Amino acid sequence: MSDEARSSTDELDRIRQEPGFCRYPTSHMAVVEWDADTGWSGPTVEPYGASPMDPRTLGLHYGLAVFEGLKAFRGQDGSVSLFRPDDHGHRLGRSAERLAMAEMPADLFTQACARLVATVEHWVPGGYGQSLYIRPLLLATEAELGLRPSRNYRCVFLAYPADPCFGAGFRPLAVTTATEEVRAVRGGTGESKCAGNYAASLYTRTRAQAAGYDEVLWLDGLERRWVEELSTMNVFLVWRDEHGTRLTTPPCEGTIVRGLTRDSLLTLAGDIGLPVTEEHTEIDAVREGIRSGRLTEMFACGTAGVVIAVGRLGTGGEDMTIGDGDEGPVTGRLRGSLLDVQQGRTPDKHGWLFRVTGAAATTTHTDESGGRHT
Ligand code: COI
Repeated sequence: MSDEARSSTDELDRIRQEPGFCRYPTSHMAVVEWDADTGWSGPTVEPYGASPMDPRTLGLHYGLAVFEGLKAFRGQDGSVSLFRPDDHGHRLGRSAERLAMAEMPADLFTQACARLVATVEHWVPGGYGQSLYIRPLLLATEAELGLRPSRNYRCVFLAYPADPCFGAGFRPLAVTTATEEVRAVRGGTGESKCAGNYAASLYTRTRAQAAGYDEVLWLDGLERRWVEELSTMNVFLVWRDEHGTRLTTPPCEGTIVRGLTRDSLLTLAGDIGLPVTEEHTEIDAVREGIRSGRLTEMFACGTAGVVIAVGRLGTGGEDMTIGDGDEGPVTGRLRGSLLDVQQGRTPDKHGWLFRVTGAAATTTHTDESGGRHT
């Protein structure tokens, strides 16, 4: 092996061991394009790199940009699988539809992810909770300044080796409610993973961080009374009373992102016998629950964040510690259950894993992308 090859192998080993969150893009990216006359083309897999962009690019002027975040995991047998790629593809389609953008078929989305993962398979780390984070970004690329739907789109799929929880470990978060700004109202774009929603959260999030918090807990946009979600993650509340422990999470009614981690946890909680309901909760009830000890845990969840405890809540002029401020048992158990499925330590009984590469498996069919449903 040449010195150059050895040093690049050493470098990759180093990255795989301590990838952080989205610090090191992989060598390749996948690209899918759409043209109003010819429809969808691709995927192609290309070396990672910049591509020139016309300053009139529609998506840049009017925010016609939607994205996804999904992960590929290395299983115990060394194989690599995507987690719920079709569901992420469908969600990208719904986000695009809300902004009158071209809706990529979910199977094309999955095929692009699978081709990319197969190409950069050697970048996928295998440590506890580690993954290859994939970031598909669909952008309106027509060079046009008139406000109208684009006649061209480009979707790039980037991949990064990643540690769980944004590379920040499983340290509990401190969150604070927004007092002035709102994130979403019914009928708006709150459910869509459009770039503008994230841009609009930054002003409040930056001020929260300057005040010593990690994140903003958004309340509903009309009454500022009902708990919704964080800027990058959904939330769950854990309650305990004389009947036992139960979980609640705000319902998806157009103002919060339909998190796939959220959805997986609803299923996994059911599997382990934890009652869970999707219901509205007033911030006053949260405050009261923390004070009385009935609200024992709060946690946030998302693809990048996985499942992470919220240990401190700033709201209504108070700074409150939830439980003892550390991660509680329900949070830890649910994160463990999720990662066990994702990393192949427990059977994938819900069919969430889409095998891309690796050890021979008992397969039922192989599709044209090379991906296998086991
Ligand atoms: C994800 O969790 O994958 C997201 O898309 C949130 C992002 C802002 C990191």
